Amino acid sequence: MNKKYFEEKEEIKEINGVPVIKKKEANAIFWVPKANRIYDAPAFFNPLMGLNRDFSLVANSVVIREIGKPVFVYEPLAGIGVRGVRNLLSLKNQIDRYVSNDINPIAASIAKANALENKVNLEVTLEDARWQIAEFRKSDTIFPNVIDLDPFGSPTPFLDALSYGFSRNSYLYVTATDMAPLCGVYPETCFIKYHSYPLRIYQCHEVAVRILFYTVALTAARRGYGIKPLFSYSTDHYIRIGIKLEKGKEKAKNTLKNTGFIYYSLKTDHFYITDFKEQKMQGKLRMDSDKTFEKVGPIWTGKLGDENFLSEMIKNAEKLPLYQKDRFVKIATTLVQEINAPLLFYRTDKVAKGISGNLPPKKLVIKKLRERGFKAVETHFHSQGIKTDADYEQFRQILSELIHR
Ligand SMILES: C[S@@+](CC[C@H](N)C(=O)[O-])C[C@H]1O[C@@H](n2cnc3c(N)ncnc32)[C@H](O)[C@@H]1O
Repeated sequence: MNKKYFEEKEEIKEINGVPVIKKKEANAIFWVPKANRIYDAPAFFNPLMGLNRDFSLVANSVVIREIGKPVFVYEPLAGIGVRGVRNLLSLKNQIDRYVSNDINPIAASIAKANALENKVNLEVTLEDARWQIAEFRKSDTIFPNVIDLDPFGSPTPFLDALSYGFSRNSYLYVTATDMAPLCGVYPETCFIKYHSYPLRIYQCHEVAVRILFYTVALTAARRGYGIKPLFSYSTDHYIRIGIKLEKGKEKAKNTLKNTGFIYYSLKTDHFYITDFKEQKMQGKLRMDSDKTFEKVGPIWTGKLGDENFLSEMIKNAEKLPLYQKDRFVKIATTLVQEINAPLLFYRTDKVAKGISGNLPPKKLVIKKLRERGFKAVETHFHSQGIKTDADYEQFRQILSELIHR
């Protein structure tokens, strides 16, 4: 995929001695270092992250409406500046200032060329993102309204430093691409980075999103802020969350009430959820003597987004030039549906294992669950996934009836 991307016959030139080729994403035309693979390039740009940049752009359009005036967006790890260029092109006169920072001088010089190419006023800086907020604070009384953190790997090395840039009503978006630790392949690494234990289960992407929310909530609480989740999703090789920061000790305290644990049996795929004090929240609490349950977390047990914010995102998406509009709308629409759903989900194909017959369509399973009085919705986390308050046996029973009907 990436190889083909760079092999296309394109316009080529050099920027500060670096061969670059011309590319397009949505309404932006820009220069990208020429390389066989994206990881060999002297400055980083991943075409697969177009949807990630779509989410930022659309979220910013809602933030601008909420704040009621042009905003200051800070992208501490900006690579060659494509996200900033797209924002400035699409949200004309609504972005007061866009700081596009990178530690790599080649990335910064290409970002400058990309700003010129698109005739936008991108403020390109060449700093270590871990110290830049401290520099802002020395000279600037204005804090960013939006911090858009998009690293490769884990965002945790940057979170503490960036938290000094939080202010009343600021917004933070965070990407994580270190899915192997977050999905339980390297649990100790996850614990070191996120102070949370993951588990290698089919719901691991939802767990990863909840671990990231937990870490961000903890960082915010230490600085005296609560968090309000706005959106979150998992796709391709990464997860992404968006939050609004809410200043105040009470907000911080209340936020941390949305944390807890999952207990999961790898033997039977049964699970239940507790709050931080290990009081039951969801599912049947097992006996203490049942040693097959693994403790997962701490995790964020609260909502994974905000219905109004997401609905406005979907509405605004129609008017904005996006890279993958249909895909954006499909994911965002499912996110709205699953906002009030129970934690985790069952995969129909996994739960039906051992029942002979054809797997019923997911929609039919959802209908049947609802007829029996359970909550049931599909989830963007897996094509066979259903979020429901039915327990494992109840879910399997309904599946079995539908298979044998
Ligand atoms: C995944 S890329 C960013 C991609 C970009 N946000 C986009 O949408 O195309 C991560 C970037 O972080 C930069 N980086 C890594 N450590 C940094 C640091 N301490 N300070 C500033 N930039 C850093 C890398 O040079 C790289 O360009």
